[in-house]
Amino acid sequence: MCGIVGYIGGDQAAPVLLSGLEKLEYRGYDSAGVAVYDGTSLKVVKAKGRLKVLSDLIDGGKKTPGTIGIGHTRWATHGAPSDINSHPQVSDSGRFAVVHNGIIENYMALKEMLVRKGKTFVSETDTEVVAQLLEYYYQGDILDAMIRVLQKVEGSYALGVISQDNPDELVAVRKDSPLIVGLGEGENYIASDVPAILNKTRDIYRLNDREIVVLRRDSVKIYNMDKELVSKEVCHIDWDVSAAEKGGYEHFMAKEIMEQPKVLRDTISPRLKDGKIVLDSISLTAEDLKSFSKICIVACGSAYHVGVVAKYVFEKVMRIPVDVDLASEFRYRDPMVDKSTLVLVISQSGETADTLAALREAKRRGARTLSIVNVVGSSIANESDDVIYTWAGPEIAVATTKAYSAQLAVVYLLAIYMGQLNGKLDSQQVASYIAALEKLPEQVEEVLQDKENVQYLASLFFNARDVFFIGRNLDYAMSLEGSLKLKEISYIHSDAYAAGELKHGTISLIENGTLVIALATQNPLFDKMMSNVKEVKARGAIVLGMAVQGNTQIENFADHVIYIPETCDIMLPSLAVIPLQLFSYYVSSMKGCDIDKPRNLAKSVTVE
Ligand code: F6R
Repeated sequence: MCGIVGYIGGDQAAPVLLSGLEKLEYRGYDSAGVAVYDGTSLKVVKAKGRLKVLSDLIDGGKKTPGTIGIGHTRWATHGAPSDINSHPQVSDSGRFAVVHNGIIENYMALKEMLVRKGKTFVSETDTEVVAQLLEYYYQGDILDAMIRVLQKVEGSYALGVISQDNPDELVAVRKDSPLIVGLGEGENYIASDVPAILNKTRDIYRLNDREIVVLRRDSVKIYNMDKELVSKEVCHIDWDVSAAEKGGYEHFMAKEIMEQPKVLRDTISPRLKDGKIVLDSISLTAEDLKSFSKICIVACGSAYHVGVVAKYVFEKVMRIPVDVDLASEFRYRDPMVDKSTLVLVISQSGETADTLAALREAKRRGARTLSIVNVVGSSIANESDDVIYTWAGPEIAVATTKAYSAQLAVVYLLAIYMGQLNGKLDSQQVASYIAALEKLPEQVEEVLQDKENVQYLASLFFNARDVFFIGRNLDYAMSLEGSLKLKEISYIHSDAYAAGELKHGTISLIENGTLVIALATQNPLFDKMMSNVKEVKARGAIVLGMAVQGNTQIENFADHVIYIPETCDIMLPSLAVIPLQLFSYYVSSMKGCDIDKPRNLAKSVTVE
């Protein structure tokens, strides 16, 4: 989704802004722009299309002098992608320039009010009202003007502002949309995500909602809405710059797929001590657990698919009813959650607007909340009663891989931990699950070694028009993720079905040559799965099957086979997902798609 970078210091601002925006390209965008104060006035340059178009216009920034500026990559919400609708948006007189992530929900009413006062609007964006309001309320103090604007606007925002009247100050604020402040020597930054400024500084402030920051070259002051100074601890980012770079791989997605053994080790090992699962970070007690009548999981996209796996896992291990909800639906169905519900929120970014809204709804209804999040200090992490971090490091490719795997690992850890707490697992079962968990990273390594075979299979099918993924139980949950991965990066139409459901309608779509990917890793359901494979084969499908090593029977049914190592049934998804990720990656690469930045998609979906 949109990206923000701001700079104030001694260097020329525009090249710094372009380089920061480049690091945010992975978030998905359709246009870009910068505004710089050149010593006399604000200069704004914007262009529809890739960042390169903007960069060429200003010769990599060299053509735009000035040492304070703001930059933006836009993912259109209000108004089509165009030069005019790109950010920065400026006020009528051109004295205020604003970049904005999020949505100003009451912008129409504000726009009407400002038009009545004589302001002229040029764009279709909601953001332009912020620039116009700032100018309207400005009486010599930009902080006062900002506070008045914030009292008027409703919705979500991360805002960066520069003004001709205050050329030594960059002002920024956030609400429900991420924004950080980077602290340098004689220079300071704002950004919507850490990678944008990681090669400049590792010391940052994370802003809370409606905290307004005023950056000067040599100072950073944060105020609340009562104009009182707020003190904040500096947060030091300790991940390596290389973690946010490709490190020799052609794409971030390839690198992130290959990083999964390490990510699993990082997520699992610190939580295993002396044969026990230790989740020091969470405060759930055995008493709390007894008080829950159900668990309700909310998430979006791939994180929701982790939730579908978690439903099977929790119900099996803890014998407690589990609901899984798409976060975007949860709020609108008057959900039956209260203090006897544990609401588990899953999110890589910790900023997904629908998931955050679902979390708030759950809290409003008195539920206990626990989140699984990758980004430390993100909104979902901050607002949950308890949080367990996935230690996946920064995930740059839009399609999630390593964060998904880390979320699965946390699901297993939690299930075993809670199953032990509520007395549903005995010590022998716990020991055998933990042994399986410890082996998982090296088993993922083993699956990754089979990548040439998956690449070969991709070469057979990269021209497919439709692909169907089928499976039962946990294999159904994996089908959902396999299908999403394929369609989002290769643009091939694909769907996932519970294998037993196919004959209730969808089987009419199977014709000669249709590719069906049949996941049959759950041995107790193998025979039933093979009946479904026979059904589609009888209608002309080509079947690519997946089973656990040793179960060579599948070769009697499927045209092509992928094997994964054996582990306990609940952890098979962690191994099954790897060939599915690789298959999508290779298909997308063979089709020449933009793997890391698929069309229309954004990494962090901060609008509802
Ligand atoms: C798919 C993908 C998305 C995200 C979804 C939720 O590859 O990455 O479906 O899983 O947008 O994002 P988070 O986990 O950040 O809440």
